[in-house]
Amino acid sequence: MVKKNVIVSSATWGIRNGFQSIIALLVATIIVGVVYLTQNGRQLLEELVAATKGTYSKDSMNSRCNLFSGKWVFDNKSHPLYKEKECTYMSDQLACEKFGRKDFGYRNWRWQPHHCDLPRFNATALLERLRNKRLVFVGDSLNRGQWVSMICLLESAVLPQFKSMHTNGSLSTFKAIEYNASIEFYWAPLLVESNSDNPVSHRLPDRIVRVQAIEKHARHWTDADILVFNSYLWWKRKQMKVLWGSFESSDGIYKEVEMLRVYEMALKTWSEWLEVHVNPNKTQLFFVSMSPTHQRAEEWGGNGENCYSETKPILEEGYWGNGSEPKMMRVVEKVLGELRTIGVNIEMLNITQLSEYRKEGHPSIYRKQWEPLTQEELSNPSSYADCIHWCLPGVPDVWNELLYAYIFNQ
Ligand SMILES: *[C@@H]1O[C@H](CO)[C@@H](O)[C@H](O)[C@H]1NC(C)=O
Ligand SMILES: *[C@@H]1O[C@H](CO)[C@@H](O)[C@H](O)[C@H]1NC(C)=O
Ligand SMILES: *[C@@H]1O[C@H](CO)[C@@H](O)[C@H](O)[C@H]1NC(C)=O
Ligand SMILES: *[C@@H]1O[C@H](CO)[C@@H](O)[C@H](O)[C@H]1NC(C)=O
Ligand SMILES: *[C@@H]1O[C@H](CO)[C@@H](O)[C@H](O)[C@H]1NC(C)=O
Ligand SMILES: *[C@@H]1O[C@H](CO)[C@@H](O)[C@H](O)[C@H]1NC(C)=O
Ligand SMILES: *[C@@H]1O[C@H](CO)[C@@H](O)[C@H](O)[C@H]1NC(C)=O
Repeated sequence: MVKKNVIVSSATWGIRNGFQSIIALLVATIIVGVVYLTQNGRQLLEELVAATKGTYSKDSMNSRCNLFSGKWVFDNKSHPLYKEKECTYMSDQLACEKFGRKDFGYRNWRWQPHHCDLPRFNATALLERLRNKRLVFVGDSLNRGQWVSMICLLESAVLPQFKSMHTNGSLSTFKAIEYNASIEFYWAPLLVESNSDNPVSHRLPDRIVRVQAIEKHARHWTDADILVFNSYLWWKRKQMKVLWGSFESSDGIYKEVEMLRVYEMALKTWSEWLEVHVNPNKTQLFFVSMSPTHQRAEEWGGNGENCYSETKPILEEGYWGNGSEPKMMRVVEKVLGELRTIGVNIEMLNITQLSEYRKEGHPSIYRKQWEPLTQEELSNPSSYADCIHWCLPGVPDVWNELLYAYIFNQ
C-alpha cells in the first residue's frame, strides 16, 4: 500500500518538469522492481514454509491443475490414513471390518491427480486452522459419512480427554476441546424443509418438500466458518410433492412437480439464503457433487448383481454409471455459477467421477443398518447389499483430502 502511494506521487511530481520526470521514471522503475522481487521472494518463502509444514507441496494447487482428474493408485504405505478400530465415533453403517469384511484392498487406494499431488493430510495443521471455528457438514447420510471420516482423520491428533461428541436433534457436534474446534453434521437431506427432516425416522414413502423454506435448518449453521453441503440421492424420483404452506397447518397446497424443476427451486432457496446470511469474507463454502452408486454390476460388466463381492476399482478411464445424473450436476453448476457472479465464492468438490471407479468401496452386506442383518438377508446380498454408502477407512477419506487441499488454498 505504502509503496504504491510512493509510485503515484513520484509520477505526479515528474509531470511538472522534464528532467525531474526522468528521475521519477527511474525511481518508479526501481520501486516496481523492488516490489516485484519482494513479492516473488515472499511467495518463495511461503512455499518453503508450507512445504516444511507439510500443508501443501509446491505444485499441488497450481491453478491449471484439476484435482478431480486423475487415477487411483494402490498404495498401502500411505493409506489408510487411520485404523477402523481407532475411530471412536465410527458408524456401524460404515464399519465394514467390524461387520465381517475380509478383503481390505478398499482401504489402500490413493487418489493421484494427473498434473499435481494432493497435499498430505495433517490433522494438527487442520485443527490449528479450525481453532475457535466451526466446520459444518450439511446434507444426507453420504455427507454424514464424510463427516465421520473427517473426525476419524482428526482424532489421532486429539487426546482422549480433550474430545467430546454431542447430538441434539439434527445436529451432531464433535469438539476438539484444546482447539475449541467444532466439527459438526446437520441432517437436512434435501437442504430445504421436507418430511424427511427427522434425523432418525425419515424413510417415508411419499416425499414432500417445502421448497421455499430453509430457515428452520439454516439458523443452526449461520455462523459456521466452513460449510460443506451435499444433496442428491434423496431427489432421485420422477416427481416431488411440493408443499406451499407449513407441515403443521392443514390448509397447505400440495402439488406434484417434475423433480429437476424442484431440485433447482430448492437450490435457489438455498443459494439465496447463502447470499443474504453468509459473510463470504469469513466463510468458506463447498458443495459436494453427487456420490455414485453401484447397484447394477451389468453396468461395468461385473459378474455379480451389484457391488457385493467386488474387490477392485474400475480401471476404465471415464467410467460413468447409470445412477449419476449429469442433468442434476448441471443444475448445481448453474446455481454455483450464479452465486459466484454475485461474489459468493463456493467450490464444488467434484467427487463423482473419481468415486465412480470405486465399485468395491461400498459396505455391501458388511454393515449394520438399524438392526443387524438376518441370516436370510445375508444369504441374499442382491437385495440387501448397500452399494450407496462407503466403507471407512475408504473413499470419503479422499473427499476430505480434497477438501483439505481447498481449505488451505482457497
Ligand atoms: C503438521 O502440522 C503441524 C502444525 O502446522 C506441524 O508442526 C507438523 O510438523 C506437521 N507434520 C508433518 C508431518 O508435516
Ligand atoms: C502392501 O502390498 C504389497 C503388494 O500387494 C504386499 O506385498 C505387502 O505385504 C503389503 N503391505 C502391507 C503392510 O499390507
Ligand atoms: C470457541 O469457538 C466458537 C465457535 O465454535 C466461538 O464462537 C467462540 O468464540 C470460541 N471461544 C473462544 C474463547 O474463542
Ligand atoms: C438442543 O437444541 C435446541 C434447539 O436448538 C435448544 O433449544 C436446546 O437447548 C438444545 N439442547 C441441548 C441439551 O443442547
Ligand atoms: C468483504 O471484504 C471486502 C474487501 O476487503 C469488503 O469490501 C467487503 O465489505 C467485505 N464484506 C463483508 C460482508 O464484510
Ligand atoms: C441405464 O439406464 C437406462 C435408462 O434408465 C437403460 O435404458 C439402460 O439399459 C441402462 N444401462 C445399463 C447398462 O444398465
Ligand atoms: C465435474 O466432473 C465432471 C466429470 O468429470 C465434469 O463433467 C464436470 O464438468 C465437472 N464440473 C465441475 C464444476 O468441475
